[in-house]
Amino acid sequence: MKNTSILFTGFIFLLTIPLFASIGSPKPIQNNQTIIYSDEASDTKALALIHSKCFVCHNPDMKAETRLAPPMHMVRQHYYTTEISKAEFVDQITNFVMNPTAEKSVMPGAVRNFGLMPKSVFEESEVKIIAAYIFDNDLASDSWYKKWKKYKQTLQ
Ligand code: HEC
Repeated sequence: MKNTSILFTGFIFLLTIPLFASIGSPKPIQNNQTIIYSDEASDTKALALIHSKCFVCHNPDMKAETRLAPPMHMVRQHYYTTEISKAEFVDQITNFVMNPTAEKSVMPGAVRNFGLMPKSVFEESEVKIIAAYIFDNDLASDSWYKKWKKYKQTLQ
């Protein structure tokens, strides 16, 4: 009886080793291809990020006269093509946002109207989440606008 319980404890202990081993190990490095948002929670997290970091200027509700920058769906239009991969899209947006220059700009009209986007300090990993979100969501669509409206209600 005693022997079996020792054996049993030993067995349980062996089972837990891989568990402990995985706790301290570094997370696998993600490349852009793996940034995929399919569940609602990460979608909402990305929306919260774009809201706090970008919509001050790229606001979907701002009237043309008071706008500080083109709305984000216009920006998307200039970067999104049916051929572009998500990784390329995320790279191009991130590259511009981390260090905006006139040479990198693909929106000369916007630069003329609003001036070049000012350089700010952003967390690159957050910009990538935002860029992936812009790729995944057609921000000009009614279905996206409904999501935005629903999100705004949670802020009140
Ligand atoms: C302080 C205001 C401001 C904030 C905040 C801001 N932008 Fe901009 N952004 C601008 C302006 C103004 C332009 C238009 C001029 C230009 O294209 O540089 C612009 C243009 C852009 C462009 C188009 C670049 C081009 O010309 O090809 C991208 C992409 C962009 N913004 C992404 C973002 C993202 C993503 C965020 C949030 C992380 C963000 N911006 C936050 C002001 C802002």
